[in-house]
Amino acid sequence: MSKEQAAERLTAPVTELHVNGNRVTVCAEPSKRLLHVLRDDLLLTGTKRSCEIGRCGACMVLLDGRPVNACLAMLYQCSGSAVITVEGVAPQKSGELDPIQQAFLEEGGYQCGYCTPGMVISVKALLDFSPEPTDAEIVEALSGNICRCTGYGGILRAVRRAVELRRAERS
Ligand code: FES
Ligand code: FES
Repeated sequence: MSKEQAAERLTAPVTELHVNGNRVTVCAEPSKRLLHVLRDDLLLTGTKRSCEIGRCGACMVLLDGRPVNACLAMLYQCSGSAVITVEGVAPQKSGELDPIQQAFLEEGGYQCGYCTPGMVISVKALLDFSPEPTDAEIVEALSGNICRCTGYGGILRAVRRAVELRRAERS
């Protein structure tokens, strides 16, 4: 930790939030971006940093169940809220993948993988709300997520596969 970071923690106000089911207390400026809180203060580096202007979706997290770009959310806006990052999507004790992650793996829905955490979060937001989406709904749900590698075919197949896996889990 740098001297500047240590000083910030000593003097900054405290904000409480729930991250991946755990209550956490963050000492940081209220205007600090959630993306930086997650990565730098909580060491949850699955949430990716890329454009930082809300264009690419690499930093997508769920905030009280809704997908948001963590690079645009300020800490004070998250006070008391429930944040789910990609680290919190799968059951944490069993070590198993979530069906959405499993589907990306099976269908080759990634290449370098940098966009994948954000994609997984957006797909979770979609399927939690609409378990049997149409292709048009899938495309719409992923319209804020940019992939620079795969060409999207594998990603669409992965979402359809995730729908099947989640359907099988429900039955
Ligand atoms: S890093 Fe947040 S949208 Fe690109
Ligand atoms: S897999 Fe590389 S950016 Fe999407």
